[in-house]
Amino acid sequence: MERRSFLKFISATTAVSAMDTSFAAKLPKLKYKPSLSEVDYEGIAFSSEDSVVLTKELQYDLLLKWQDALTEKESFGFNNDYINFVPLTKAGTEGILWVNHESPDRFMILDHVSNKPTKEEIEKEMYSVGGSLVHIKKDNKTGKWTYIKNSPYNRRFSGLSLIPFANNEEIMGKTIAMGTLGNCAGGKTPWNTILTCEENYDLFYGETVHNEGMTSHLKSELGWENFYDNPPEHYGWVVEIDPISGEAKKHTSMGRMAHECATTTRAKDGRVVVYTGDDSPNEHLYKFISDSHDNLNKGMLYVANLEAGVWVPLNKDIHMELGKHFTTQLELLIQARAAAKIAKGTPLDRPEDIEIHPISKDVFISLTNNKPKGNYHGAILKLMEENADAGSLTFKHEYFLTGGEESGFSCPDNLAFDDQYNLWFTSDIAGGSQNKKQYTPFKNNGLFMVPVKGKNAGKVVQIASAPNTSEFTGPYFSPDYRTLFLSVQHPGETSKDKDNFVSHWPNGGNSKPIPSVIQISLK
Ligand code: FEO
Ligand code: CA
Ligand code: CA
Ligand code: CA
Repeated sequence: MERRSFLKFISATTAVSAMDTSFAAKLPKLKYKPSLSEVDYEGIAFSSEDSVVLTKELQYDLLLKWQDALTEKESFGFNNDYINFVPLTKAGTEGILWVNHESPDRFMILDHVSNKPTKEEIEKEMYSVGGSLVHIKKDNKTGKWTYIKNSPYNRRFSGLSLIPFANNEEIMGKTIAMGTLGNCAGGKTPWNTILTCEENYDLFYGETVHNEGMTSHLKSELGWENFYDNPPEHYGWVVEIDPISGEAKKHTSMGRMAHECATTTRAKDGRVVVYTGDDSPNEHLYKFISDSHDNLNKGMLYVANLEAGVWVPLNKDIHMELGKHFTTQLELLIQARAAAKIAKGTPLDRPEDIEIHPISKDVFISLTNNKPKGNYHGAILKLMEENADAGSLTFKHEYFLTGGEESGFSCPDNLAFDDQYNLWFTSDIAGGSQNKKQYTPFKNNGLFMVPVKGKNAGKVVQIASAPNTSEFTGPYFSPDYRTLFLSVQHPGETSKDKDNFVSHWPNGGNSKPIPSVIQISLK
């Protein structure tokens, strides 16, 4: 210490010690508030209460709910899912929140539900999906976050937004697609753009079926194609969003499938690597290695073969069988699922979210369930790349956790590591299956944690329980790890009667349930 500052230090401490002790006793005690990752949580039991039940150390507040006005023209979408945050300040207490809006619920969105929705009604559904960019700020006194209405950063992406394909790629005669939809989970690139994944895209515009050289159209459940003639091939992609400029593009490089997430890291040589799962029974796990250090426009897509421990390239010029089936590489990418099967990718039990351990670099993958195969409770798979290098083309794997009554969870979905490397995850027992048959013991869905230390180290601790028929999605920690942003998705989704909703969260009474983003913090 410099002599002058040392003297200052000495005089300050002398002043404190000389202070009247009775006066010192009256001073408010400064309590250190630990971060969410430092607490040895008590945990809760499974619950079927129609509310957000939390372990005794925690509290929650609403941050954003469906139809909240973001600007004079735009409002927050329906069924919030994946969350990410891009700080605007060094302190990280102000920034832009990205939230996915996965799917509409006709019963909840439209005032009157008929078998033949009008164009206007379909447009209301189209507006409800996609994603939101919302400027949020933390109040340093209360520790609570609020959103800033009418901020120029607030934007909506919906089923009606026009989004170009990367590399000016032309698909079904067009270089621009109408809308992004089925936005489930996602990722963030090293250059701070958001990746949002189009998962169950066939719900909206159906699917093109290829059978022995013939193609046919499989109708969608929602029937948007009755009003908008958009080809199914325009959906099922990873979409990149710049949260500052609002620019968006659909990447064909990572293939077309029911993309759950796009978890991004770097290979040891600096190339960008994206892991993505195709969330359908017996579909596959993929990895994309970009040719570049700073964009995802071009590179190689691989499918995982777990038995052999290899990443198999999905490229028609280097894989002979693929070369026989596909005329162009774009055709292969559009039919990535078919390509993965030809290349002998391992069929998996619905690969959902993926997270990379911050230290070991092990890749954790939720396999949520595979009911047709009799796997009701799923597992969390761990994949160890050779040399802990995401750029490796060989790996080993093992099961980290298996769902079931003994382990205390079923149907793992979203994953998140905190700064102490505790693993947090949410469960996704389908709304209509909760509290029934095999799922009875688990009651409502929950938020869980596997602590690395404390009395429950290595065990699964339930941190929160979700409102009736809902699912917690998109867990994301604020930069100071003192807030956990969490989506409450599809509360009351099995409701059939507007006088008798299955959930009344968040407003209680006889109210209609509203999907919302909450903020969880320590009491
Ligand atoms: Fe949208 Fe696979 O969860
Ligand atoms: Ca999911
Ligand atoms: Ca799910
Ligand atoms: Ca969901």
